[in-house]
Amino acid sequence: MGPLAGRRVVLGVTGGIAAYKAVEVCRRLVDAGAHVAPVLTGGAMRFIGRATFDALASEPVQTSLWDEPHPIPHTRLGQGADLVIVCPATARLLADYRMGRSGDLLTATLLATRAPVIVCPAMHTEMWEQPAVQDNVEVLAGRGVSIVGPVDGRLAGGDLGAGRMADPSDVVAAAERILGVARGTDGGDLAGLTVLVTAGGTREPICPVRFIGNRSSGKQGHALALEAAERGAMVHCVTTRPERLAEAPGLEVVAVDTAAEMADAVGARAAGADVVIMAAAVADFRPATVATDKIKKGAGPPEILLEPTVDILAGLGRSRVDGQVIVGFAAETSDLRQNAAAKLVAKGIDLMVANDVSEPGVGFDHDTNAVVILDADGGAREVPLTDKREVAAAVLDAALAVHRTNRSTNGDDT
Ligand code: CTP
Repeated sequence: MGPLAGRRVVLGVTGGIAAYKAVEVCRRLVDAGAHVAPVLTGGAMRFIGRATFDALASEPVQTSLWDEPHPIPHTRLGQGADLVIVCPATARLLADYRMGRSGDLLTATLLATRAPVIVCPAMHTEMWEQPAVQDNVEVLAGRGVSIVGPVDGRLAGGDLGAGRMADPSDVVAAAERILGVARGTDGGDLAGLTVLVTAGGTREPICPVRFIGNRSSGKQGHALALEAAERGAMVHCVTTRPERLAEAPGLEVVAVDTAAEMADAVGARAAGADVVIMAAAVADFRPATVATDKIKKGAGPPEILLEPTVDILAGLGRSRVDGQVIVGFAAETSDLRQNAAAKLVAKGIDLMVANDVSEPGVGFDHDTNAVVILDADGGAREVPLTDKREVAAAVLDAALAVHRTNRSTNGDDT
């Protein structure tokens, strides 16, 4: 399986003659197993219609910040992407991107992503050689953007010179190289899979200085994220403790604080994930109102009215995409298996990792854990007290087994 398999690529197309070559790039990306979301600018739509991309890509063409059912398409696209490719990139796109302008869906998506970006400039030689254009390219390259092409060759109108868009095969080769490096491994049993993990305890503000929290350290969720990245997955870790999570190739760290922020961050990424693991300790209730000023002692003990938060895991269970594996954690202090099994059924998920946090060395803030991994068929696998990384490995083994079963049941095993 190549480095593009299962990866989400936003394919931006701007208004240049070379827009027709983006069709070939799209086809090659899809052939290599990527999930391609095409974003065309108004200019691109003049050069090439949406029908071709609609037929070849993995999702319908999007062109505007305003015409999608999703209210914020640029964040959905940008946050969910493993890679953004702009081909061809006009001089205007380069200038807008360099300046941080977000006037259309494509430039807004470029601002809303932390994924690697490839731009493939294409324009007439005179334009390409303009100091302003060269300057923009240099600045973008200095920020880590990969510039592929242009090459010398025949240009629109029959001119010869520098400015021709790179060959589609070279664009796809660059994408493979970048995602291969991002993954940081030549394979691993999770290669080609996208894993979304949550970690840490949410903090629900009472006033600007106080919050309702819990004792979760994020260690188990972080161990899962690092283990999954090391085994070749593309990993998004949504965590309340980002300062405690080491950087790793293929790992995107998303910092959140509250249950609502976690729900948003998970919601933006869940559709693109093969495996979702909710290891976070999410608050079930939050203050119904948050005081704008610090609550002072002199006023006496405050009465804090609580309201329920959204149950993220149950929402995932209701809206799962085909073949997706959903894993929850159940922190219990009694009747471990019964409580965890009931939650597995109630939330409609595949696996529940149950731990009895009243046991010594188990759960919150320890470096060790002991769990039972329950599956939807009533199976149970015990993992006795061990390092959280070992527990992470066992949970990922179980998730991968479910993923493989789903794939063969759907008949898409190759
Ligand atoms: N969870 C969630 N959203 C919430 C609360 C919990 O997604 N608002 C997830 C947790 O991340 C965990 C699972 O649900 O994976 C079980 O969490 P837990 O606190 O053990 O169960 P609850 O459903 O909150 O039930 P209770 O607190 O009554 O035990």
